[in-house]
Parts: sequence; C-alpha cells; structure tokens
Amino acid sequence: MDLTPERIQTALGGRPFKFYRQLGSSNDVARDWALDGAATGAVVIADEQVTGRGRLGRVWYAPPNTALMLSVILRPPRARVPQTTMLGALAIHQLALGLGIEPVGIKWPNDVQIAGLKVSGVLSEAVWQGGDLKAVVLGMGVNVRIDFTGTPFENKAISLETALGRQIDRVDLLVALLAQLERWRDDPTLFATWKRHLVTLGQRVTVNEVSGVAEAVDDEGGLLIRTDSGTLRRVLAGDVAPHNRESQ
Ligand code: BTN
Repeated sequence: MDLTPERIQTALGGRPFKFYRQLGSSNDVARDWALDGAATGAVVIADEQVTGRGRLGRVWYAPPNTALMLSVILRPPRARVPQTTMLGALAIHQLALGLGIEPVGIKWPNDVQIAGLKVSGVLSEAVWQGGDLKAVVLGMGVNVRIDFTGTPFENKAISLETALGRQIDRVDLLVALLAQLERWRDDPTLFATWKRHLVTLGQRVTVNEVSGVAEAVDDEGGLLIRTDSGTLRRVLAGDVAPHNRESQ
C-alpha cells in the first residue's frame, strides 16, 4: 500500500505532520517548521527526496516508493542533544528487531546494519536562531525496498523487505518507528543500550585517519581508539573505514 496523506493522518492521530511526494530534504523543511513553532514530535515525511542529505556532506537519495524518509522535530534538554543521533539509531535498531530481523547492529556512530549491511542512516541537525538552540531535527532514512543488485551498494546496503522476505507497509513502519522514538526518548538507559548494540567496539578501525582498536565510547558518542602506539584517541562523527565511502 502507498504512503498517502490520508493514511498517514489516520495512523498518526493528532501528531502534526507534513507529507511530500517529492521534496528537497525533509530535514530542511523540518528546520523551517521548527523555527515557525512546530510542536515537539511534529514530523516531515517524504516519499522521494531530490537533495536528501547524509552525513559528511553526502547525498541520500531513494527512488519513490522504496524508503521511509522522515525528520522529527525534538527539543531535548541541552545536555541530551548529543544523544539525539543515538536515539534515532537505537529506535531503528529496535524496529528491525521487532520485525523479527536478525542480526541487527549499530555501526558507530549511527548506521543500522543487518548482517553487516546498512539498512538505515541518521542525520540529526541542531536548529539555531541567533545564539538560541530552538530544536533538533532528527532525520532518518530507512531502506524498505530498494533493490541494490548490480549497484555499487550491492555488498554494502540492504532493504528491510529483502531481509524479511515479505512486503512491509510503510505507514505501519512509520507508526512503529515513532513509537520506538517515544519509547526511548526519555529513557535513562538510552546511552547504555545504544552502546550495547554497537558492533564497532573491539574492531580494528580507521576514523579521520586515526587507526587502532575501537575501545570505548563516551556519553557524547565520541569513539575512543587505542592506537598501535598505545595512546587513546577520541574521534567524533567520523566514518569507520572501510565501509560507507559512498552515499549509503
Ligand atoms: C547517513 O547515513 O549519512 C544519514 C542519512 C540520513 C538520511 C535522512 S532521509 C530523511 C532526512 N532528510 C535528509 O535530507 N536526510 C535525512
């Protein structure tokens, strides 16, 4: 079944939302809406994004009818802003587990993987006005039925339907994902649970040209790498080589 405003309206009840068949980036629309006073929890949903953004300046594109792409407006206390990305990754992780998919892991900092293949990415962005933090936009893209066969992502990315072997209704998925966000949003065990599902710890990694063994994460999400010379280096928001060099 299709994503339509009518079906979304029925499924979301009173939650404010905006739905677009095609738009640039749902994060941009959510940012403007947050500055216009949108309620916390309001959500922007796109069936197709033509200038969707990924981390590290990458493009995130999905053809129509193949993905779940949304941006949720949140207003966490300042101290918990760094955990917004963890919230998105953990919610998607739990969503996939809830569908009966295994194994599901989180690759630092925020990619959700099924059997080592990326199924989802998270891009959270702070919304500032002058010196004031007005909101945080939590953008999430989930591969639902993108066929990666024969593409450069064939051995890097996967879709939920491929992993499950059956079709998924994206409206049901949207409802379940928003419920996971509510479930974890104020949970004091969020950080510990996110950390427990990180597949990166213990692995040999290279991030921002720092190489060594991923030893730990701190509560802001920084990764602590034990280099070959024995020093502990902290890296933030980099990418774990050799994966994810391209847009997925
Ligand atoms: C990544 O893995 O690099 C993060 C990808 C985030 C993509 C989502 S799709 C919905 C939201 N709008 C955007 O422009 N980007 C995020």
